[in-house]
Amino acid sequence: MKIPSSVWTLLIGILLTLVSLWYGQNHGLLPIAASDEATLVDGLFNTMMTVSIGIFLLVEGTLIYSAFRYRQRAGDNADGPPVHGNVPLEILWTGIPAIIVIGLSVYSFDVYNSMGGFDPHSIHEVSMAPQAMRMPGAAIAATLSDTATSTEPNLNQQKSDEAMQDSATAAVRNADQIPQRRNAPGLGITDPTLGSTPENQGKPPAVVVNVTGLQYAWIFTYPETGVTSGELHVPIGREVEMSMTANDVIHAFWVPEFRLKQDVIPGRQSEIHFTPSKVGEYTLICAELCGPYHGAMRTQVVVETQSAFDKWIEEQLVASTEDLKQAVAVNPHTLSPDEFLSPYTSEMGIQPEIVHQIHK
Ligand code: CUA
Repeated sequence: MKIPSSVWTLLIGILLTLVSLWYGQNHGLLPIAASDEATLVDGLFNTMMTVSIGIFLLVEGTLIYSAFRYRQRAGDNADGPPVHGNVPLEILWTGIPAIIVIGLSVYSFDVYNSMGGFDPHSIHEVSMAPQAMRMPGAAIAATLSDTATSTEPNLNQQKSDEAMQDSATAAVRNADQIPQRRNAPGLGITDPTLGSTPENQGKPPAVVVNVTGLQYAWIFTYPETGVTSGELHVPIGREVEMSMTANDVIHAFWVPEFRLKQDVIPGRQSEIHFTPSKVGEYTLICAELCGPYHGAMRTQVVVETQSAFDKWIEEQLVASTEDLKQAVAVNPHTLSPDEFLSPYTSEMGIQPEIVHQIHK
């Protein structure tokens, strides 16, 4: 018995649909989803994957089948049948992709809106002090040598600490330089804002973190406590509001497990909102080519319980008070140049008296 081609088409269609639906959910291409927002992005990605795999199998399958089925047989030198196009077929294969593309764009826009959306009226330049735009020369010199030699896992912490010694970087981190959205209601100071907010009404207040990107480190400050760190710690289940800026070139904040990426731009403040949903350590990666050590510009993001987070903040506060004492002790502005340089003279291989003479 010969099976009619319409039955074949139906069977192949059903098979393709089932394979596409299965693969769309089981492609295993994404890292674990560690934020509430990640499920929205994954839904969109899986849908696109389902559609793409369906089209891929259909097109490639037809191609391979035809190449085999209609191949030139031995001794067959006849011309193929003259075909002058098929209007209904062309309408069909233009119409179906058009519907798919429109559907996907509506879906993506919906996901983008659920994650905070984009308000074109809210872009404003952040007026920064001129010195904030200055290159932190000393910090760069220090970070370059570090990046080249060290394999310490907390490299970013060291780099951030060093960078904070630079007055330009410290100026950017100054609370006055980073206007807080909540302190300026109605005043849009943001770039495109990503992240959910509407469904977070009535939950505990968002954790605010100021982020600074610089060649080649990330610095996080928690304005509520004044804690500064090179590692991002956030409590699970609470909305995190990040206001980000850069003090040299454009960097980008990217945590694949949160499915969030946002540019970090000098002279501007960009924001990201997200709610971490899985305890763990993730990697924050700079996703904008920002210089020769761009690839090394990464640090840890630690999602932990509220109590572990509170404990960490306390530890940081203790550590920073100690640092402050040390910093005051060696602050160059309160010392004369030879006093300041004297601890380094042996390293420099010169006599302390010579430093004194230079000063004169
Ligand atoms: Cu910063 Cu790449």
